[in-house]
Parts: sequence; C-alpha cells; structure tokens
Amino acid sequence: MLPEEDIIFSKYLQKCGIPIDEFSIGPFTMAIFGGAGDLSRRKLMPSIFNLYCNKELYKGFSVVGVDMREMDDNQYRSMMKDAVREFSEGPFDEDQWYEFIRHVYYLTSKLENDDTYERVRKKIDQVTVPASNGLKDVIYYLAVPPGVAPLVVGKLKEHDLCKGPFNTKVIVEKPFGVDRKSAVALNRTLTGAFKEEQIYRIDHYLGKETVQNILFFRSSNAIFEQFWNHQYIDNVQITVAEDIGIEHRGEFYEQSGVVRDIVQSHVMQLLGMVAMELPTGFKADFIRDEKVKVLRSIREMDNAYIDAFTVSGQYGPGKIKGQDVPGYRQEQNVSPASNVPTFFAGKFYIDNLRWGRVPFYVRTGKRLPRRVTEICIQFKRLPLRLLGRDCDAFDPNILILTIQPDERISLRLGVKYPYSHNQLYSVSMTFNYRETFKTGFSQPYELLLADCIKGDLTLFVREDGIEEMWGIVDPVTARWESFPVKQFPNYGAGTWGPPEALKLLEQDGRSWITD
Ligand code: BG6
Repeated sequence: MLPEEDIIFSKYLQKCGIPIDEFSIGPFTMAIFGGAGDLSRRKLMPSIFNLYCNKELYKGFSVVGVDMREMDDNQYRSMMKDAVREFSEGPFDEDQWYEFIRHVYYLTSKLENDDTYERVRKKIDQVTVPASNGLKDVIYYLAVPPGVAPLVVGKLKEHDLCKGPFNTKVIVEKPFGVDRKSAVALNRTLTGAFKEEQIYRIDHYLGKETVQNILFFRSSNAIFEQFWNHQYIDNVQITVAEDIGIEHRGEFYEQSGVVRDIVQSHVMQLLGMVAMELPTGFKADFIRDEKVKVLRSIREMDNAYIDAFTVSGQYGPGKIKGQDVPGYRQEQNVSPASNVPTFFAGKFYIDNLRWGRVPFYVRTGKRLPRRVTEICIQFKRLPLRLLGRDCDAFDPNILILTIQPDERISLRLGVKYPYSHNQLYSVSMTFNYRETFKTGFSQPYELLLADCIKGDLTLFVREDGIEEMWGIVDPVTARWESFPVKQFPNYGAGTWGPPEALKLLEQDGRSWITD
C-alpha cells in the first residue's frame, strides 16, 4: 500500500503525454575522452555510479576512460574511488562500488595519436555487450577543452568509429567553441561525422528540475501564462550568482571569462525558457524550435548599446562568509594583470510581439555574496491607487522562480497592514519543492546522462541553438576585449558587483530584486 503522503500526491498527480516509454536502457559503453580530468572526477563518475546504485543502468554497461595520464585500470579505479567519495552527495556504498568498478577501464592515450583510436575500438569491441538488435551501443563523451573537440571528432571519423561498426552517440561538453565561428566549425565537423540525432550538446542547467519546471509552470497555470507578456510584465531579472571564485580553473577561465563560461550557455538557456512560446508538445524538436525562435529575436547589440547597457567586472580581494579570499588576479594560473571579466550585467530586449519593450536584466558573477540562481518577473503596477492617493507603499507583484540553492516559487502580493489605516504591506506566498515533495533532486549530470543513454534529446541543445547563443554574446566579448576596463578589479569579493550594475537599473527607475 502507498504511504499516506503518496496517496495524497497520487490524487493530484496529472500525467502529461510525454512519451517516456519510447526510451529504454540497454547495454552500452561510454568512452570518456578526458576521462582523468576534472569533469570526470567531479561530475561524470559520481553520476554514473549514482545511476548504477539507483538501478538505472542495465547490467551490461562499461565505462572506458581515455586520457594521457599514465595509469592502468587499477590506478584509474582507485583515483575514481577517491573522486566519488569526495564529490558524491550522500554516503558511499562500498559493496555497490565493488560491483560497479569492475565495469570501468582505462586507456593511457594521447588524443592526437592515431593508435589511440584503434585501441579505443578494440577496447569497446571487447567490453561492450551487444543490445537486443545485435548492435553495440556506444557513447563518446568529449570532456575536453573546446579546442581539442574537433581533433577527437575528426579522428573518430577517420577511424570509422562514428557511423561504422558501433551504434553511436556523442556528448559534447560546454563551452561549445569559443565564439560563433568556432561553434559553426565544430558543428560542421560533428555533423560531418555524426547525424544530428546522434549529437548531444550538453548544458547541465537544462538537467536541473527547477529549470525544467519553468515550462511546466507556465503551461499549467493559466493565471500566469495569460499575463506572460509585455502588457502585464514590467521587466524580467535573471541572476546567476556564485560565491565561489574560479577555484583551480585559472587556465581555463583566463581563456573564457564570464561571458563564454556562463552567459552564452546557462543564462541564455534560462532566458529562452522564460521567454519562448509554449511548444505544441514535448517532442525534443518542438521545444528546441521555440527556443531558437526566441533567441533569434534577441535584439542585436552594437558597440554603443554594449557601452551603455552592459557592465563588466572583475573581483578583487574581499570576504566571503567572513573568510578572506584573494582577488581574481591573485588566483593560481591567472596573470597578475589579467583583464578577464568575472562579472556581467546587461539589459536584453526580445523584439517579438510577446516581449516588445520589456527589458530582461541579467547579472552573473563569481565571488558574489551568496550562491543564488533566480528569475524574477516583475508585473506592472495598477494604473491607479484605488484605495486613496496616500497609500504608503505600492509594491508591484513579483513572481520569483528560485532555481537554486532553495528550489522554490514565490509570489509577492500587497496586503493591508493590520491596524493601520492606509498602509500596504508586501508579503510572499511561497511554494518550496523540498518541503512539499519531501525529496531531493537528481544531479543534473545524472539526469542528462540517463537521457542520453535512453536516446532522449529534449534537454540537449541543437546545432542552431548553440550558434544563435554565440551570435548574441560575440559582440559583447569582442567589444570588451578591444576596450578592456582600466579599473579592474572593480568589485570586492563578497559584494554584488561593480556599482555600475546598480546604475544599469537605476537609470531605468528600477532596482535589482532580491528575495
Ligand atoms: C559551469 C561553469 O558550467 O557552471 C562554472 O563552467 C560554474 O564556472 C558552474 O561554477 C555553475 O554551475 P552550478 O550548477 O553550480 O550553478
């Protein structure tokens, strides 16, 4: 029998016609290029192990790490054990690990060497259990820097490993290229080697439950969807704030900076989810079509616009949670004179009939006071104060979708302050995911890996989507790189960025909303 709470939930549970049954998990091999790297240690192996523990992997799976670090299978397994212990949430299950790790192998190989790909083929052939159709299902995971991805794809093609002996898919990590031009080139290389439906461009933000909920929330609540347009919405604010610095990734970050790292991918995905038209169904391409349309409608930014409506910042030393932390220029593998931005704020317009003239303000940065990802939808004020002209407060309604760390939705409403004659008071009605459903969430990588294994492309980015996103941010990076800000660092760690980020909204008579 279901526990009482589940009975209550099942009473309200409504199923959408999402064709989950079309997908199934069979035996497969995942070959991870960059298998000894940071992503594999922090995210991929912990996620694969969790899928295994949750019985979401078919018994006949294998993982082959491919990297240049000299190791044998046993050394790799022990390195991964340390990583999973360190980076997995929840207790480490020794018995399950013992069973799991027997499926994991390692090849010491240089990615530029032809012989690597022959050894990969041999290993895959040897360890892969054929699926029921007799074919061997293989996923290549490109956990390598953007400059190296084309090389690996080219070699896979040359060695006939894409459409040849195996039934393959390829997952490509972000950043997908470094600008539109390189993304187009990488797309060309990929589509020359694989069919589009074999290509999984990953952005882990799409694997977050709360990001996926944006569409469900909009499409199931008439009271919001009907007001989801320029007639009722005054502005939209997206904040992706991190309190961490660049950690051990100085070398990467010096090449990337905040725009390539976060704005081009995560921020654009959030913006797309909020602003797109609702798809006519849950098929991958229905959603991706709508997202691309909205990205295409984002107003192009020329230099004058960029100078007026974007703000760049770089953190100096400061305090986070009471602890002294170094400035960006003092981080490991960062030039002491670096001009790389760690903060972005900007105003976007979406030139379509739904959003005409509604500003979308975005801010994101490292070493901000706290970790929070939030989308605030501020509704327009009523045209009149119906209850007298001297009401003391007149706050607008604000809908806040908090993506992390507290997954919740809240709505700010004005009510009469008790005992007062004429005072309004702003209160919040809040729905909190964890409290309501008494559950945690699967890690985004876990969910996305499972989707790829099943063959569901819905939460992956299509070729045109990636190119559009780069097209939006390229002018910003080009402008900022030709005229770097002279006063870097211009915000202290532990603050909300440079003062210009506040002015960006103040000049429009608005301010950043914080929950
Ligand atoms: C990654 C970026 O894509 O996302 C990192 O490269 C960033 O710089 C991370 O820290 C943030 O992810 P999350 O899930 O912690 O918000």
